[in-house]
Amino acid sequence: MASIQKPKGTLDILPQDMPVWNYIENAAREQCRLFGFHEIRFPTFESTDLFCRGVGNTTDVVQKEMYAFIDKDGSSLSLRPEGTACIARSVIENGLYAGTMPLKLFYFTNFFRRERPQAGRSREFWQFGTELYGSDKPEADATVIALADGFLKRIGLSGVELKINTVGCEKCRPAYRQALKEYFAQYADKLCDTCRQRLETNPLRILDCKCPDCIAIAENAPRTVDYVCDDCKSKFDSLLSLLGEMGVKYTADPKVVRGLDYYSGAVFEFIAGGIGAQSAVAGGGRYDGLTDQIGGHKLPAVGFAMGVTRLIACLKNEGLMPEEPSGPDIYIASLGERAAKFAQITANKLRQNGISAEADICGRSLKAQMKYADKQKARYVMVIGDNELDQSSAILQDMRSENKIKTDLSIQNIINIIGQ
Ligand code: HAM
Repeated sequence: MASIQKPKGTLDILPQDMPVWNYIENAAREQCRLFGFHEIRFPTFESTDLFCRGVGNTTDVVQKEMYAFIDKDGSSLSLRPEGTACIARSVIENGLYAGTMPLKLFYFTNFFRRERPQAGRSREFWQFGTELYGSDKPEADATVIALADGFLKRIGLSGVELKINTVGCEKCRPAYRQALKEYFAQYADKLCDTCRQRLETNPLRILDCKCPDCIAIAENAPRTVDYVCDDCKSKFDSLLSLLGEMGVKYTADPKVVRGLDYYSGAVFEFIAGGIGAQSAVAGGGRYDGLTDQIGGHKLPAVGFAMGVTRLIACLKNEGLMPEEPSGPDIYIASLGERAAKFAQITANKLRQNGISAEADICGRSLKAQMKYADKQKARYVMVIGDNELDQSSAILQDMRSENKIKTDLSIQNIINIIGQ
């Protein structure tokens, strides 16, 4: 019978993979602490309508990639494809908008999109993200961008570039959309099939297409900066100048438009070299209309999300993978029944005192136990047999320095030696 495999586009994160995941998660938590962001968790599935209204019906994420299903009560639910709409729902539903502002939130969790799997793109993936509510000032945009930029530096990455643009607000974007529509309509027969559809539904997304012909046509397309209103322009200029003064390097790039409908104002992406086609490690921007769009009152907001597996690819590429964690503080090898029992009891007492300790639980020979201790990279090894028990003393061998230390078998003495 064929063995069962994991679903296409999902991944197992094995114990040996965990050091880098923990490294990223710990750094993310520390970075958020420095900026005063607090963790939020939210359901793995939400009402499908939340994403249709929030992320947008014309987006690829909603049109093609959602894991939507009908529940037994007839309601349509979807696995969360992203977190921004979920958090907006939670902020409204839990009345967080009525609390102290700004509200600064972060998450580190998994999402689901039915995309074509390839290096850097999977159907279940993890994001570290932040959302800041309650300020429409460029200082708020600068805060989340500085948090992202500082996080990438904190984990040691240097090959990531910040690209930034503005997509304008609800007042000025219609004119820009119209200008794009008119421009691309001239080349309709040369656009790819998807972009020909986007011409009607979402012409901004053509700027983001990866087809060579569409890229060439988009080269001379109208630029947002020439269409945005005075307010958007002045906010964008202030943001760029603030970022410069805060030491955050960026490139203004009119082609950054983002794939989700809720954005208004500044948008940005962090792009990495050397990790293949899926080079966007993070994306985000301002989305002042989202809470309103999903039925709450209007609340300005800005945020970003980073793909964890893409961050890992960057760390690998830059030779920055963290080391394997160290092994147990002590392995107590035993010979004979009395010693085996003593080893179990002693290991447990040591653990109760904060010392990581292991002893054989597989009935292995002394030789096999020593091999195991070596593989586990135990810091100390102590061998216990009848002699050691009768004399109430044993040798603790420091596996790094090869020093041999004689000790009596009292827990306190063993702790004293290991704790040195
Ligand atoms: P997004 O650009 O769709 O934005 O995703 C953000 C990041 O998640 C991407 O830059 C990428 O690193 C990672 N990512 C996305 N899809 C996949 C996938 N299939 N496999 C692996 N990694 C992936 C958002 O999700 C917005 N919610 C970001 C945001 C937060 N905007 C405002 N606040």
